[in-house]
Amino acid sequence: MKLITRKNQLKEEIKIWEKEALSIALVPTMGYLHTGHESLIKKAKEENEKVVVSIFVNPMQFNSKEDLENYPTNLENDMKILEKLGVDILFAPSKEEIYPQENKVFIELKDLDKELCGATRPGHFQGVCTIIVKLFNLIKPTRAYFGKKDFQQLAIIKKMVEDLDFSVEIIPCDTVRTNKGLALSSRNSRLNSNELEDALILYKILEKVEEEFKKGEKNTERLIEIGKSIIGQVESAKIDYISIVDAETLEKIEKIKSDSLIALGVFIGNVRLIDNRELFI
Ligand code: PAJ
Repeated sequence: MKLITRKNQLKEEIKIWEKEALSIALVPTMGYLHTGHESLIKKAKEENEKVVVSIFVNPMQFNSKEDLENYPTNLENDMKILEKLGVDILFAPSKEEIYPQENKVFIELKDLDKELCGATRPGHFQGVCTIIVKLFNLIKPTRAYFGKKDFQQLAIIKKMVEDLDFSVEIIPCDTVRTNKGLALSSRNSRLNSNELEDALILYKILEKVEEEFKKGEKNTERLIEIGKSIIGQVESAKIDYISIVDAETLEKIEKIKSDSLIALGVFIGNVRLIDNRELFI
């Protein structure tokens, strides 16, 4: 595996692959890799001739300095994981390499960032889109892999690719969980053992809401109330949002229809975790 930190060097490597008409996968990450990330990389490896993984803790998508500073990193261990998986290039640039000067041009989002994480994290998805566009331009991937764990991110990138005619194919990947149901996340490393137990409340809420939905409740307001009512079981948990939306437009809906999504953000102590589930009729 080649570790590349400079954009120019990366472009040179990509040119060689392009000449040979090889299929290129991109798996963008912020590092501190876990088996969730690994599942994306394995899929990328199966479906493409070359795989590039990026590790970059993107300051532009963080709303709070504290959250950015506390974001876990472990490049040495990440590199071991990526070597084992047979990744071709790890692109791990510095902040200065990616943003040599202040960006004055951004992608503007309409509606898609009004609900869910977008509602409480202004500018977050603009930051995500900016780094993803930069990576698409540098790597020109055939396919790019994104987890459904960050469903809103996936939906926004899919729509960006469609609306702006990028030629990359976006591949959605299922959420990897612990055997108790907690969605794997780099942020879980900031939880102590009690908080890790408390964090199961996200999964329990999704289970409960789906159960009630399957019993026949289709009214989203009532389903959300049911979800909210069990958060009190866990003292350290505070709801950021629980919403039921159209899985494509991400707009709030009153009644469950064929393509619906329940998504939630919950603070466990001061760590904000997210999860979601598609509700199929
Ligand atoms: P990060 O949180 O590191 O996640 C990188 C990719 O791994 C994302 O596509 C995310 O959805 C996926 N992922 C995370 N946890 C997962 C899990 N438990 N199961 C399956 N996939 C999982 O998301 C980002 O980084 C950044 O916003 C990024 C896209 C890299 C832009 O900076």
